[in-house]
Amino acid sequence: MKKRLTITHFKKMKQESKPISVLTAYDFPSAKLAEEAGIDIILVGDSLGNVVLGYDTTIPVTIEDIVYHTRAVARGAQQTFIVADMPFMSYGVSREATMRGAARIMQEGGAQAVKLEGGVEIASDVAALVKAGIPVMGHIGLTPQSVHQLGGYKVQGKLEADAERLVQDAKALEEAGAFSIVLELVTEELAAYISGEVAIPIIGIGAGRGCDGQVLVYHDILQYASPYFEKKFVKTYADIGTTIRTAIENYVSDVKSGVFPQEEHVFGAQAGTIGALYGGEARKGKDADDGQLAARGKEVPLT
Ligand code: KIV
Repeated sequence: MKKRLTITHFKKMKQESKPISVLTAYDFPSAKLAEEAGIDIILVGDSLGNVVLGYDTTIPVTIEDIVYHTRAVARGAQQTFIVADMPFMSYGVSREATMRGAARIMQEGGAQAVKLEGGVEIASDVAALVKAGIPVMGHIGLTPQSVHQLGGYKVQGKLEADAERLVQDAKALEEAGAFSIVLELVTEELAAYISGEVAIPIIGIGAGRGCDGQVLVYHDILQYASPYFEKKFVKTYADIGTTIRTAIENYVSDVKSGVFPQEEHVFGAQAGTIGALYGGEARKGKDADDGQLAARGKEVPLT
């Protein structure tokens, strides 16, 4: 059985120039499939607010939402390193709230690490969490929890001063003890530069080819009813949305036309049972056989 990777592995992967694969997951099946596919890190992102709960932003997501979804992910991916997002305003307000929130995500959710958005301004929170034994992943560049402050979902660090600030943010997070950093929506040149400036892995999303790893959103790469706007940095690996919609259309049509259920989908009563109850007749053949099996205390096959 595959062994769960650790933060030591991720640092070594950067040193050995081995790219780190990260994908979000939010429930048991998505986590199970991601683990079976060999993903290095699963992120229970607060993007679940958008792709699972249908909010416009990640801002309404709560610690309860994250704990609930992380618990399901932890059941589905028992051998994969799981990072869970600390949601909006669950950190940076008071040290005690930060520590308690992170503790819930680890103890109740079963995550191995937490992720926080921000740089220099949250470095002391990161240091306190790390000191308490909680691995922290940073997140800089486009930080969706600050979407209103940033004026929308746009490429960050284009101006020299902003680029310099991001470099300082990355260094502050490294200094505070973060084991890696998500770098979202910045130019490829800046991302490559930042990756070269710190010893911890930089995991890019919309940050080009010079990062130490990549992260994408499960629903985006699978076209699984993710919000329908074009994202240049996403590669579509399957169109699950169309597959599911078509399958459900076929089911609806089968129910309405009486094509489903068929003989093989139904259970029959023991011969004579229905007749005795209602004065009708049980059907013959397989159904009667199943009825006799049941009567003898044997399980009737459900498939
Ligand atoms: O919430 C999330 O899924 C994220 C990724 C997009 C990095 O933070």
